[in-house]
Amino acid sequence: GSAEKHGYRHYMLKEIHEQPSVISHSIEHFLKDGKLNEEALGITKLDLDKIQDINIVACGTAFIAGLLGKYFIEPLTGLPVNVDLASEFRYRNPHMLDEGRTLVIAVSQSGETADTLASLKHAKEAGCQIFSVCNVEYSSIDRISDSTLLMNAGPEIGVASTKAFTSQILCLYLWANAFAKQIGKLSPEQENQMTQELHSLPVHIDLAMNSEDKVKTIINDYYESPNFLYIGRGPSYPIALEGALKLKEISYIHAEGYASGELKHGPIALVDRHMPIVAIAPQDEYHDKSISNIEEVRAREGMVIGIGHDKDDKLQAVCNDVIPCPQVNNPAFQAILSSIPIQFLAYHIAVKRGTDVDQPRNLAKSVTVE
Ligand code: G6P
Repeated sequence: GSAEKHGYRHYMLKEIHEQPSVISHSIEHFLKDGKLNEEALGITKLDLDKIQDINIVACGTAFIAGLLGKYFIEPLTGLPVNVDLASEFRYRNPHMLDEGRTLVIAVSQSGETADTLASLKHAKEAGCQIFSVCNVEYSSIDRISDSTLLMNAGPEIGVASTKAFTSQILCLYLWANAFAKQIGKLSPEQENQMTQELHSLPVHIDLAMNSEDKVKTIINDYYESPNFLYIGRGPSYPIALEGALKLKEISYIHAEGYASGELKHGPIALVDRHMPIVAIAPQDEYHDKSISNIEEVRAREGMVIGIGHDKDDKLQAVCNDVIPCPQVNNPAFQAILSSIPIQFLAYHIAVKRGTDVDQPRNLAKSVTVE
């Protein structure tokens, strides 16, 4: 069945390589006659006109997908978006409006995470609308929700989430576009432009798979480091968080993800010639700032692995190594593409260190108790 390894050494590696096909299937599933499919995207069952603010709740990698979601849900819908760890949201008496005026979004691969489920129960009692982005139909989170967007990413077996993460990004992004369209904030021209960019995503994600070769050739210089720092700005900031999370989960290397702009507020004190810094640096509106941040850590002898376009001479000039990643204009799609090299980096470092990649110590695929 679909849950076999198909010749891959680990489920995680298989699931990383499945991403081009998951994305292709998603395009078929979430578009209808070339337009956003409101039904598959879980829009039709929500009372959109009532919504005044949005809270996203999730744990782990799903939380990071939610954090990224804020970067495009807010500008697309014009609504304020707050993102919370479910374990905090459930206890901190968050601001919520009754009569469906607050929309609470849960992001959960399994649909069974205890804290996320408890947050939804709390939100339901407070009279919020409940929407979830979920990979498992009939899971507890699917059942408690007023509306569910089923990700359709196929079963994910590796404890470290990979294909579910990129699928969550895509789902949240397409949902936000469908929402914006419904409330008159996305014109037919904008929808066309977006779907055109979407149709070229499978080709780019296929190309992103080539980053694996480069990862394999550079890790000898890095895999014994006890610490790693990941930095990024804008949508690359959540990707930095996810890169650090992936690395610590499966290789047991201490890693931190930071917003590049926060470097000076702490982590730069850690930088010396023993510190590898992974800089997620696509050629977007933040590129110049990313380059100067890299120069700052290089000046303190940090070793920089850049993730960016292989034809980016500026980036090549300031990094010790560059892991090539395709470049696109759409920031949400760029975030999906930047995810691929950080997954390969964590995976191959972990394999090199001989850890149990699919079943890392002390971790569970789904945390169903508090
Ligand atoms: C565990 C898993 C993570 C996952 C998190 C949230 O920590 O190891 O990979 O991101 O739970 O799980 P969920 O099923 O709610 O997405």
